Amino acid sequence: MAAGRESIGNTLRVAFVVCLACAVVVSTASVALRPAQLDNRTQYRQINILQAADLYQPGMDVRAAFAQIDRRFVDIDTGEYVEQPADYDPVRAARNPETSRPVAPDPASIRRQADVAEVYLAYDDDGNVRRIILPVHGYGLWSTMYGFLALEPDANTVAGIGFFEHGETPGLGGEIDNPRWQSNWQGKQLFDDDGEVAIRVLKGAVGEGTPGREHLVDGLSGATLTANGVNNLVRFWVGEAGFGPYLQRMRQAYQDNGDGAI
Ligand SMILES: Cc1cc2nc3c(=O)[nH]c(=O)nc-3n(C[C@H](O)[C@H](O)[C@H](O)COP(=O)(O)O)c2cc1C
Repeated sequence: MAAGRESIGNTLRVAFVVCLACAVVVSTASVALRPAQLDNRTQYRQINILQAADLYQPGMDVRAAFAQIDRRFVDIDTGEYVEQPADYDPVRAARNPETSRPVAPDPASIRRQADVAEVYLAYDDDGNVRRIILPVHGYGLWSTMYGFLALEPDANTVAGIGFFEHGETPGLGGEIDNPRWQSNWQGKQLFDDDGEVAIRVLKGAVGEGTPGREHLVDGLSGATLTANGVNNLVRFWVGEAGFGPYLQRMRQAYQDNGDGAI
């Protein structure tokens, strides 16, 4: 009897049954938790958008706050709004040669970009644009950094910046998540008087009397390579090959109507 229980066949049978039971538990949990995972991911992204836009308060009803934010799609070449299905995913579109183009020159090291980008618009109580929120991404030292750059309705003044995904070193490049460094960006002007991209992350701190300091952001001490990556990606995305045509339309609309609506 004891010998039968300890036979190789029996051991394999028991191992198989245990594996099967575990597989059923794991796959059931995975399927059952999938909606909750997707929900959490969506909420995490929404919190990041609100944070970048400086509209987030801890404990707030994120879903309700986000219901006030419009997701729009922008033709990268013309800067005009276009229609897309609600499930349009610019990251997936950037991988498809039919819906994207190679980037050259490629200062942000992203290789391809989608022909249609998404933007988020937050409104004030009177229905005027309060923030223009642009998804941005580009390579740092170790990783592609994904984040949001939020602008005031003039489409020139930075309201905030934040990254929701990156693999930079905590304490070094990871300081891009430090609210103190991010607050450096607030109030900075993207464009000079000629409409050229002028925002720049320096190596070191911006001095009190530095000319053009309204366009200059403090670097990250000990993490200049990541800071350079942020500089490159921001300048790329607000430039001609990125949201430049869209931002130009928004700046013009703000000058004409004062509310940034196009
Ligand atoms: C283990 C390790 C991790 C590092 N991680 C980063 C990083 O995430 N971002 C970064 O810019 N520099 C990082 N560095 C430092 C860079 O190699 C480089 O020295 C630094 O970016 C130069 O910045 P500094 O001129 O401000 O000192 C790391 C260095 C080491 C040894």
